[in-house]
Amino acid sequence: MHDSPPEPLRVLGIAGSLRRGSLNRGLLRAAIELAPDHMVITPYEGLRAIPPYDGDVEAEGDPDPVADLKARIRGADALLIVSPEYNYGIPGVLKNAIDWVSRPPRTSPLSHKPIAIMGASTGNFGTARCQLALRQTFHFTKSYVLIEPDVLVVRAAERFDDEGNLRDEATREHVARLVESLERWVRGLRAGAIIPD
Ligand SMILES: Cc1cc2nc3c(=O)[nH]c(=O)nc-3n(C[C@H](O)[C@H](O)[C@H](O)COP(=O)(O)O)c2cc1C
Repeated sequence: MHDSPPEPLRVLGIAGSLRRGSLNRGLLRAAIELAPDHMVITPYEGLRAIPPYDGDVEAEGDPDPVADLKARIRGADALLIVSPEYNYGIPGVLKNAIDWVSRPPRTSPLSHKPIAIMGASTGNFGTARCQLALRQTFHFTKSYVLIEPDVLVVRAAERFDDEGNLRDEATREHVARLVESLERWVRGLRAGAIIPD
């Protein structure tokens, strides 16, 4: 007798850069390619449509793009955030979207949502400071953030081709490890184990 295949895990991939040739969008594409068999990573393409956060607008009801993003997060088993670092912090467009979906805190779809983070930068620190800032933000939203492996893609321009596709084998292996860990961890969380392995 064979075990039935596991339920597919649905992961929403959110890139923090709007640029067509974005290295981080390329990094997310690599994660989609390298995802384990029973994980489907869907890239979120709506970031550009999220308006600037405004409490007066929120009081009248979530704008459609915000309601759509909240529904996508609710429907996902986990998020994969793939972001550049801007001025040692979280890119404004990404932080703005997080701010919208963090509200109201008691019913936020980010609450208790498993999240993995990775990022690529052209510099030597591979988005380390942005990733720490994201972890701080996700502490407030009561999200669970995968602890390791860290995927900090340094000097990223050397690792991607002209179309923004990740070519560097060692980096592809890091990305594969992260998505495999994410799968193990989320399945472990569902089975009641907070710490996988
Ligand atoms: C506004 C801005 C601020 C930046 N600040 C940083 C930074 O703090 N640290 C860093 O490593 N790279 C920084 N960079 C360089 C980015 O790593 C680089 O532009 C990267 O390619 C952006 O990601 P993307 O290719 O996904 O758009 C910055 C770039 C921009 C446009």
